[in-house]
Amino acid sequence: MRLLPHSIKWKIAIFILIIGIAEGLAVAYMTYKEEVESAVERTRERIQTALAFTKAARGYVRSVLRPRIDQLISRYSCIQEDFILEAQSSSFFAGNIFRAVGEEMPDFRLRQVAFSPLNPKNTPNQMEKKIINYFRQTKSDSYEGIETLNNQRFFIKASAVKVKAKCLRCHGTLSAMPASVKEIYKPSRDPQWKVGNVQGGIFVYVPFETILLKAQIQGIIKGLVAFVVNILIVGVILVLLNRYVFKPVEVLREHADKISRGEIDDEIPIQSDDEIGQLGKAFERMRVSIKKVMDLLK
Ligand code: HEC
Repeated sequence: MRLLPHSIKWKIAIFILIIGIAEGLAVAYMTYKEEVESAVERTRERIQTALAFTKAARGYVRSVLRPRIDQLISRYSCIQEDFILEAQSSSFFAGNIFRAVGEEMPDFRLRQVAFSPLNPKNTPNQMEKKIINYFRQTKSDSYEGIETLNNQRFFIKASAVKVKAKCLRCHGTLSAMPASVKEIYKPSRDPQWKVGNVQGGIFVYVPFETILLKAQIQGIIKGLVAFVVNILIVGVILVLLNRYVFKPVEVLREHADKISRGEIDDEIPIQSDDEIGQLGKAFERMRVSIKKVMDLLK
């Protein structure tokens, strides 16, 4: 069985086509890999920025807002509350800022969690527990990686929350806790955070599948473009070959056929000066010689 056709034209076309497909696939694959890498890198930078903002917001509450409002509360007895959640809880404050930022970066999610939390919503899930334990065991205070939660993969960056003495005012015992905090969260027992302990973590989540999907789409688009460009190049090469090689060869073959049948009167048309033109000229000289001999024989 023959795999390749007789015609050189089609052999070349098939050959270039196979190279085109291989190149399209290679470009698609390389683009995909590059896109994934650069998407991960971009995400990492964006998470870094998000975490930096979160930490800055927390720091601002702790060092500026909270002391200032404490001062006002103690100075003006007309203020009923002993604690103003919206301005004095760094977690509450940072969480709200992050939600607002989330409108710009909808993929991003922030979770501030701790064992024995004030707000039950901030109880660590299985994966967060694992990472908090990792902080405890390794003494490192940040973590970055791809983790699976509820069958979905996330790109995660986390930093450890270490307890300081001043945290105990609200996260220590019920008796020390501001009445307003008790009223809002109604804790049933002392949170009992211990100074120096890694109590929780701040987690930024970005779904990894969306990163992958974008990279896949880019890979497919660029691979297709490479493939189409290849097909166009193949087309142009075939048109050129047809015009300068295959057509003139066909004309020569027709005339050689005629000569072989004894029809030697038609002059062989020569259109070019290239290798095929030279071949044509040689044929023409041969035809003229044969004609002379035939005329002599008559
Ligand atoms: C003046 C009170 C107050 C102080 C002091 C305070 N927090 Fe909080 N913290 C809160 C409140 C209120 C919440 C719950 C916010 C919410 O509903 O998300 C909270 C929540 C948190 C959470 C999320 C887990 C949870 O308990 O719900 C972390 C983590 C946290 N705080 C860390 C700290 C650290 C670390 C310090 C000390 C550097 C600190 N906090 C000091 C009031 C305080």
